[in-house]
Amino acid sequence: MNCQPTSKMNNKVFIFDTTLRDGEQVPGCQLNTVEKIEVALALEALGVDVLEAGFPISSPVDFKSVVEISKNISGPTICALTRAVAADIDCAAEALKFAKRGRIHTGIGASDIHIKNKLKTTRENILEKAAWATKYARNYVDDVEFFCEDAGRADLEFLAKMVETVIAAGATVVNIPDTTGYCLPEQYGAKIAYLMNNVPNIDKAILSAHCHNDLGMATANSMAALQNGARQVEVTMNGIGERAGNTSLEEVAMILKSHEANLHLQCDINIKKIYPTSRLITRLMRMPVQPNKAIVGRNAFSHSSGIHQDGVLKNRENYEIIDPHDVGVPESLIVLTARSGRAALKHRLEKIGFEMDQAQLDETYKKFLDVADQKKEIYDEDLLEMMGQSREGKIYEIDYLEVHCGKRHQATATVALLKNGVRTVEIADGCGPVDATLKAIDKIVKEPVRLEEYLVQAITGGSDDTGKVHIQVSKDGVFYYGFGNDTDVIYATAKAYVDALNKL
Ligand code: KIV
Ligand code: ZN
Repeated sequence: MNCQPTSKMNNKVFIFDTTLRDGEQVPGCQLNTVEKIEVALALEALGVDVLEAGFPISSPVDFKSVVEISKNISGPTICALTRAVAADIDCAAEALKFAKRGRIHTGIGASDIHIKNKLKTTRENILEKAAWATKYARNYVDDVEFFCEDAGRADLEFLAKMVETVIAAGATVVNIPDTTGYCLPEQYGAKIAYLMNNVPNIDKAILSAHCHNDLGMATANSMAALQNGARQVEVTMNGIGERAGNTSLEEVAMILKSHEANLHLQCDINIKKIYPTSRLITRLMRMPVQPNKAIVGRNAFSHSSGIHQDGVLKNRENYEIIDPHDVGVPESLIVLTARSGRAALKHRLEKIGFEMDQAQLDETYKKFLDVADQKKEIYDEDLLEMMGQSREGKIYEIDYLEVHCGKRHQATATVALLKNGVRTVEIADGCGPVDATLKAIDKIVKEPVRLEEYLVQAITGGSDDTGKVHIQVSKDGVFYYGFGNDTDVIYATAKAYVDALNKL
């Protein structure tokens, strides 16, 4: 069945955000309660319907975060995760007591793999526990979501029985997780269709898609579920989550928007807030987004080949299906490289104040290719130099760097920068060597920038490896990137930061 929504089937898709639960489980992404409230407020402004705030029994911090988010958020339903055990459900109910609308999300394994190998029990016992947990949670709240863990690999008839059982016990939403990211979109869609057609009381609940990205199919699977009758989708911002992550909120929202005429489905996401929310979460969770990530990646609206640049400059729609402004991205980027053509060069030169006729452009293009062959990317300062108006004097260069740090040792950096032949030295303390170095540079450059992204990568492995550092800073809402590499990652960091500042 590939359902077109009928009058019986509402076409609103509920966006269930689990950035603060499934997303926050990722090592290194943990937030404190204040940061979680900041994220929750941003998700509320973004327009999510349900906000999974945490797993209260898992830690006192999670408990407190669910309490504080419940107190501070009034738009979305606040949801708390539990296992199908009384202590978890009691704890979640307690954490949700300030929520305007609270939902308990309880559940248990549905696949034979989980039932036999993890839970070491029988299908009959699972059905009993599922019914019991749902009824127990309903004693506390009217809104109970039940998750059939590993539904992606569960036997279909048993899954249908489980869904029927929990709906009869009072579940308002039934979550069909593809916990291991195993299903093909056709399989997952067919699973949802089977449940829609074979569970007798299905009209009393909403089916929810919760997909993981182990095979890169989380978004495709979620869309297949929606096309087959699911009306809630569980997502995270930037697709963060266990292992390869969860379905990306921004991808689902933009697919629904871009294909509204075919799908006849809508959600209430305020798409203008997608990019700022993505940046906030990247920053707070210290989890960089891959540059080629759909919608929110640094290269999502960046054009580098000559043919594409020419096409975009003639009409954006030639190579962009989304207007970057619609999702809050300041502008498309035309990256100048050796593969750029005359159209891109002319566009960039005009932006920095050089108008030229065809003959002048042809001449300049030859020079441009010479420079571009030697450099990976050509920046405005390279163009100025080419045009005989070097801004060299305005560019900072690192002349000296010394850092002291270690356990029981306040990190201190001494930096000397050269500008226009003038050497300036500054010393700064920091909470670590990176912080101290950037603070010393800030003292010299005095530009009010914000560090948005900081990424260090080893190239080949080994302790003598070269570290590659990517930095993104913002000033007045505009983003600037910097890159540096060196066997000393702190020096690479300083190089990347200065590189970004030189582009302001
Ligand atoms: O992936 C999963 O199965 C889950 C459940 C706890 C809902 O995250
Ligand atoms: Zn999950």
